[in-house]
Amino acid sequence: MELVFPEGFQWGTAISSFQAEMGRGKPSKDTDWWAWVHDPDNIKVGRVSGDSPVDGPGFWEMYDDDFERCRSELGNNAVRLSIDWGRIFPEVTSGVEVKVKRDQHGNVWDLELDDSMDSLHRIADEDAVARYREILSSAARHGLTPMLTLYHWPIPLWLHDPIESRDTGGNCEANGWLSQETIVEFGKFCAYVAHRLGNLVDVYATVNEPRIVAEHGYLTERGEFPPGLNDPELFLRCLKHVSMAHGVAYDQVKKWDRAEASAYGPSYVGLVSVLQSYVPADPSEPDDVRMSRYIEYVFNEWGLNAVFHGDYDMDADMVVDPEEQMPYLVKGCDFLGVNYYSLWRVKHRKDGGHPLLSYGFEPCAGDCSDYGWEIYPEGLRSVLSWAYRRYRRPIFVTENGIADEKDERRTRYLRSHLEQVHKAISQDGVPVKGYYYWTLMDNFEWSDGYQIRFGLYGVDPDTKRRTPTKAVGAYREIAQNNTLII
Ligand code: BGC
Repeated sequence: MELVFPEGFQWGTAISSFQAEMGRGKPSKDTDWWAWVHDPDNIKVGRVSGDSPVDGPGFWEMYDDDFERCRSELGNNAVRLSIDWGRIFPEVTSGVEVKVKRDQHGNVWDLELDDSMDSLHRIADEDAVARYREILSSAARHGLTPMLTLYHWPIPLWLHDPIESRDTGGNCEANGWLSQETIVEFGKFCAYVAHRLGNLVDVYATVNEPRIVAEHGYLTERGEFPPGLNDPELFLRCLKHVSMAHGVAYDQVKKWDRAEASAYGPSYVGLVSVLQSYVPADPSEPDDVRMSRYIEYVFNEWGLNAVFHGDYDMDADMVVDPEEQMPYLVKGCDFLGVNYYSLWRVKHRKDGGHPLLSYGFEPCAGDCSDYGWEIYPEGLRSVLSWAYRRYRRPIFVTENGIADEKDERRTRYLRSHLEQVHKAISQDGVPVKGYYYWTLMDNFEWSDGYQIRFGLYGVDPDTKRRTPTKAVGAYREIAQNNTLII
């Protein structure tokens, strides 16, 4: 059977700056993530692997060849990549004056920075700006429409000292997303990027996965993301602020990018959310059933309700009280990016206390990736249909992929998930506009380093030579013909 995708469907891969750029050329050392993965205490207790992004695939210098592969070997017409805030502003931007509008509780809801562009320009690292301009130009030369993610996790060290924040429970000056000053500085960064790169890019993802940033930084026991804290109140504060950052970024990009670079032009701006499938570990156990629904609410819905409805359920009790409704924080969102990987079986842990500390996941026992994530293609269709029914925006699958070192399951994973995307489009009427496989080549998998291999290409750590996995040919077949044959 031939499953034909809509005309103009975007076929791509997704990468992020911290994970893929380093390995060749100038490393990016001025971020919280750099400090985090090199911290001896974090390495000692296993919060991080001890690997360094500096041994990465070297996209910073190899982008042209990589894009050539995307075009000729993968048959792609799109690519998703991110821009490293710490490379553009290694120096402090807080001194640049802007007009910040806040509500009566101090929540930032708008920025005006008309007269500040020159000051930002004086601070920005011009070489980094020039390199990103070359990268985006190269994408265009290769016929790839870029989607640029403005925040894919590292933030400048001057805004977030993750070690001090870890050691003080977040009570320090540079405490990252715990403070709304980070939203203000992010707004300046987004305005500057839109101003300087806007004629090369139209499709922007504001923030990547607010929930993961908040959960892995402020809720998990392992504490693997900066700053490694374990506190529901801080988790919710971070989730709130990163969700608000979307709105501020949306407005700034709309204001500052007036140039058309593609059919999406001048700016088409969305949020990337990670939506996973959750089921009770034991469906006959009422506590597991309740906890599974709760986790689905907090992890899949909370952030979208904030961005689309202004509902900020700050005690996460599944009820939005009048004082938790902040409709004025709702800005636009032209599309929704959905990252989908797997199914999670949720357990209620009786010893947890706070509901947010009372969940656990059953270890994967069935069809699992190397990461221990359960493979469940049908879940992709469900989350796409659910998200469209609720939030009514065009959708891109902005990430979907598998850690599979032995290269045994990637092709099946890709094909089975695309079949579900097609069903979402053809049977459920979801306007899915594109699909970006995660990821182009093996890269730095955050706290787990290089052992986890999601790449369509393997990478030799010394020569940086890329070796195609079996899925490369399979993906090319599909993308070139805009058709999946099953
Ligand atoms: C992130 C990627 C990450 C991938 C696999 C997503 O949550 O956006 O940066 O590498 O999952 O863990």
